[in-house]
Amino acid sequence: MTLDTDHFLDIDDLSADELERVLDRALALKTGEEDGSELLTQRTMGMLFEKPSTRTRISFETGMTKLGGHAIFLGPDDIHLGEGEPLKDTSRAVSRYVDVVMARMFDHDDIEELAAYSSVPIVNGLTDDAHPCQTLADLLTIREAFGAPDDGVSVTWIGDGNNVGQSFVVGAAMAGLDLTICTPPDYGMGENVLDRAAALGGEPTVVDDPEAAVDGADVVYTDVWVSMGQEDRREEKLEAFDGFQVNGELLAGTDAKLMHCLPAHRGEEVTGEVLESDRALVWDQAENRLHAQNGLLVELLG
Ligand code: CP
Ligand code: NVA
Repeated sequence: MTLDTDHFLDIDDLSADELERVLDRALALKTGEEDGSELLTQRTMGMLFEKPSTRTRISFETGMTKLGGHAIFLGPDDIHLGEGEPLKDTSRAVSRYVDVVMARMFDHDDIEELAAYSSVPIVNGLTDDAHPCQTLADLLTIREAFGAPDDGVSVTWIGDGNNVGQSFVVGAAMAGLDLTICTPPDYGMGENVLDRAAALGGEPTVVDDPEAAVDGADVVYTDVWVSMGQEDRREEKLEAFDGFQVNGELLAGTDAKLMHCLPAHRGEEVTGEVLESDRALVWDQAENRLHAQNGLLVELLG
């Protein structure tokens, strides 16, 4: 059975049932209950990167190998990506060769343009607005840590209302997590994200007091304050996020686990002490990128 969507640009391109199916498949592939080694034989993924990556690149590339397929890394210096050739031409040409394209772009409109012109599925490996593959791995990690069904697990997102956070807010609504969002007032999640979450039954509590936000949380999730492409806003953002650091003092008195998509900026959004503690689920999250994406690819490519 394949998925109903042609592309995976954000987490709600899946229905709640399809999300369940992808996570179940991911777990079966991870545990070895299902042998994935020939599921994508002879299939090729093109990986377009406008920004750097450690986890996304390696997890997709090794993931395709594990499924019997192959992946080609195409960085900004390797192909005519937007410069020298319009994106719509790149998309039409690339999709004549490969079976699926994973793209990491700055502007979300650009991945939508790739999708509009592609004859094969486009998978979002991060844009300025969304990171749905991260959300798949996050939901798998929560399920493993707290058991299924995981609805009712309470998660607090603290820090920037960024790409990782936005996809997580929508995914949390689909999974039935009990979500609190704690950001400085001018750095919250986009209105359309909260509307999409609401349409899926999500009722996140939105606050700006970190101490109240983490009280009783099962998981505290944070991400960098200065995302890739925002380097010129560094000073402004560090000032705005003062007081929102996840540190030992903030988590004292809670049993909360820590989630972070990585890479982490120790001493900014999180301290090294918390990141290196038993609270951290971050290495499981990183590993689960591979399994979650393989679940997605098998469901998407059939
Ligand atoms: N979490 C994540 O997407 O990491 P990379 O930027 O290393 O791919
Ligand atoms: N918010 C971060 C996530 C990196 C995986 C960024 O966009 O840089």
